[in-house]
Amino acid sequence: MPVPINIPIIGKEEIKAVNQVLKSGVLTSAAKNGGKNVQEFEKLACKYVKSKFAVSVNSGTASLQAALLALDVQKGDEVLLPSFTFVATANAVVSTGAKPVFVDILQDNYTMDPEDLAKKITKKSKVIIPVHLYGNVAYIDRIIEIARKNNLRIIEDAAQSLGSTLKGKHTGTFGDIGSYSLYPAKVMTAGEGGFLVTNDKQLHEKLLMIRNHGMVHGYDTKILGLNLRLPEISAAIAKEQIKKLPKFLAKRRKNSQQLSKLLSKTDLTLPHERKNEKVNWYLYTIAAKNRDKLLKALNSKGIGAVAYYPTPVHKTPYYHSKVTLKTTEWAALHVLSLPVQPQVTPQNLSQTASVIKSLL
Ligand SMILES: Cc1ncc(COP(=O)(O)O)c(C=O)c1O
Repeated sequence: MPVPINIPIIGKEEIKAVNQVLKSGVLTSAAKNGGKNVQEFEKLACKYVKSKFAVSVNSGTASLQAALLALDVQKGDEVLLPSFTFVATANAVVSTGAKPVFVDILQDNYTMDPEDLAKKITKKSKVIIPVHLYGNVAYIDRIIEIARKNNLRIIEDAAQSLGSTLKGKHTGTFGDIGSYSLYPAKVMTAGEGGFLVTNDKQLHEKLLMIRNHGMVHGYDTKILGLNLRLPEISAAIAKEQIKKLPKFLAKRRKNSQQLSKLLSKTDLTLPHERKNEKVNWYLYTIAAKNRDKLLKALNSKGIGAVAYYPTPVHKTPYYHSKVTLKTTEWAALHVLSLPVQPQVTPQNLSQTASVIKSLL
């Protein structure tokens, strides 16, 4: 049996919830606050991450776009973000007309390097987007300090880090706006979807409008918005998934601890939690000298190891930026994520470890 790196876990509760929506015939709502399932999911999301407000949307990409629009990012502005991320982070910036400015990462946990960030701030800088990559918490305390000093806003890209915390505070709730993805390969899903959180009432009102063509009462567009609404079917799935999330994450943690034990006496760089940090173990990512060889061997045994990301965004054909990002370029050649998702068994972990050890 192949062992996927990540896979949605759908039970009878989700199927029942979807059936109920279909039977109700109410598949979406263009009202300002959205439909019944949308509103109920948003309440659960607020409770889970401990935020005042949540707005669900139809993808993690839409979520980033909405956040950028809410902070009035436009042509002429610069947005600072890591290149070592899924391309959606940068594409969302480009879609507003703003310029993405790529910041290097720290080798320690593959997230934004605050010192490189500070160096790249200019008069045009407007927003910083730290990405909590793999579920690892970015060095957010330092990033907030830099943002305050330079009068910049923060959008946290928490697409991969739902459930990760620092000193008990959830990723996504440190900055002005937090952005999450509910894509099927994430720690929980809506089919496709995403959501934003904020503690700022004005930003919340703006995000509700942006989700729905800038309207408040209907046909009264006040600001630029789009159709970013989450369908009721997706919201119904998300509602059931978020109830199961603590269990999903506990299993990921258990699997990761087991894998770390199995790989402890190797020269691999293993992932770790910093003091006061709790990661969601979305991706258990190691660094290895012979990464490509390990990847090939694991895949040939059906173990769905994946390199995220072999091409950093600034090196893709569309971006082809000339900037040099030393640690980013190192990581792109050496990282490898191993399956620890909730359906991975102790046998799968032992096999993963033994394939790796046989090649070291
Ligand atoms: C870091 C990051 N940002 C943004 C996104 C975009 O989310 P979506 O695929 O839901 O549009 C993803 C996931 O796919 C991601 O991993």
